[in-house]
Amino acid sequence: MRPVSLVLFLTFTLLAFNDGHILPGAAEDKSREKKVWATAGSSAVLPCYLGPKKMWKSWKHLPDKTSVQWKRHGRSAHQEPHMVLEVGYSGLRKTALHMRPRVSVQDSALRDGNFSLQIDPVRSEDAGLYEAQVTYNTGVQSCQVELGVITVTLSPPSPVVENEPLLLSCNSSHQVSLVETRWFHNGRLVPTSGTFFSLNGALSILRPAMSDEGSWSCQLRYSDNVIVSATYNLQILGFDGPTNSVVYAASGSAADLPCTLNYFPSAFGINMVRAHWSHLAGGHLQVWGISQNLSSRSFPHHLPAVGPGDAGQYHCTISVGSKTISRVVTLAVVTVTPSIQGPVSEGSRLLLICSLTHLWGHERFQWRHLHSAPADSKLAAVTSHNLQGHRPQMSPTLEIPRVSQKDTGTWECSVYGPEGRLGAVEYGLQITGAQVSSPPTIFSGQVIFGLTLTLFLLLMVCVLALALQRRARSPAFPALEGLVAVTVPKKKEMEENQKEETQQTAC
Ligand SMILES: *[C@@H]1O[C@H](CO)[C@@H](O)[C@H](O)[C@H]1NC(C)=O
Ligand SMILES: *[C@@H]1O[C@H](CO)[C@@H](O)[C@H](O)[C@H]1NC(C)=O
Ligand SMILES: *[C@@H]1O[C@H](CO)[C@@H](O)[C@H](O)[C@H]1NC(C)=O
Repeated sequence: MRPVSLVLFLTFTLLAFNDGHILPGAAEDKSREKKVWATAGSSAVLPCYLGPKKMWKSWKHLPDKTSVQWKRHGRSAHQEPHMVLEVGYSGLRKTALHMRPRVSVQDSALRDGNFSLQIDPVRSEDAGLYEAQVTYNTGVQSCQVELGVITVTLSPPSPVVENEPLLLSCNSSHQVSLVETRWFHNGRLVPTSGTFFSLNGALSILRPAMSDEGSWSCQLRYSDNVIVSATYNLQILGFDGPTNSVVYAASGSAADLPCTLNYFPSAFGINMVRAHWSHLAGGHLQVWGISQNLSSRSFPHHLPAVGPGDAGQYHCTISVGSKTISRVVTLAVVTVTPSIQGPVSEGSRLLLICSLTHLWGHERFQWRHLHSAPADSKLAAVTSHNLQGHRPQMSPTLEIPRVSQKDTGTWECSVYGPEGRLGAVEYGLQITGAQVSSPPTIFSGQVIFGLTLTLFLLLMVCVLALALQRRARSPAFPALEGLVAVTVPKKKEMEENQKEETQQTAC
């Protein structure tokens, strides 16, 4: 299988440019040589047309019994040429076994006179001299094409992963001494110092980063002034998103830690991926394996409910083929700690402390009061400080000096960074009725009522007792008895506490 990542672009550098047409009826074997350059891994076309292009296009049909045979000459003069591809006049094709799937001529070759040989993909050992012999009823014509191959070598082989030193080198089949190699990245000449350095024409990238992706071209200049170039499209396998990603989660809520590759491993021809997460918590290492899924490039870790103890660094490690890459994701937990545990009494002083397990120094905190009805919460958040006089609080601690009924409901602490809102945590404030620790105001009303009632009942008992005594001694003044019974309670009620003891002794 051809690795898809090896998108090698064919760069034709035609040297002795020569149209190389054969004119039927012209002197036999009058061939002219041309040279074609191709990059290993891409395709090459060795041109051969019967007659000038303009001419053969207008032809209705070629002479009868036309056939073509492509041969490759041996590397040295004494080596016999060997057959590459043959199309007989009946259309029957023969192809050399070792090149079978890679070489072709157009199906319409015998009809339209395009006998060009296509090699796809080209290998470095394909370099050499090729010759086509077109035989027709009145003679034989030939095309000679020399194929030069430029090879771009990547070391270590693909996939290239982030931060792993990389060496790109170029060579070609041109048998002349090399004078100079120049490198271009996305069309710009690369200075071979600093990040990159050149070693015998090879380019070294010490710490490949995502910015090093793109097209890399080598330009080889030989002592005979021949210049050839090849381009390699470099893809670096790494992670999506920032290098140091931080996930903010409210204490008690779920968190998903992301770990996503920037490419599907299959794009590199890799079908073996393993991923695991690890976290060092309280001195012991926790490891979670991720089930292998080849149709995915995402390997998140789900935490159902996080607490401050879960905060910290999580490592996502992915093995792609023989390479292992790893990324750190930091979990930062936002927590609210109230100064009063449990239900809060009305009138008490409450502090809500918003804290973040990881502070980088650029965070801002904002407190807002959301109304308890969820449907209205958005509106309430906007209007709360106007209606209730609560300004958005910009410090991590919210102070409510005297908790009142209007403070019930949800309080939200949001954490903001330079890039916007990072996370938020909510606190539900519930208020219980009276507080017992502030006696004077709350006490008096109820106590006075109770005492008055008791006094009144005592007085009634006394009055009744006195009346019964008098009736028993002298029944002579009934009207006076009734008067006493009516006036005494009213008078006593006004004098209250002081009279309590005297009345009781009078009884
Ligand atoms: C001739 O055939 C080759 C491949 O066999 C093809 O790439 C090329 O475009 C053809 N030429 C024309 C002019 O059609
Ligand atoms: C160029 O390098 C490749 C890989 O190292 C090698 O296979 C090939 O034979 C070399 N070609 C020449 C002409 O040296
Ligand atoms: C693999 O990933 C695909 C796409 O993300 C998903 O639809 C499928 O359910 C996953 N299979 C398993 C076994 O996780």
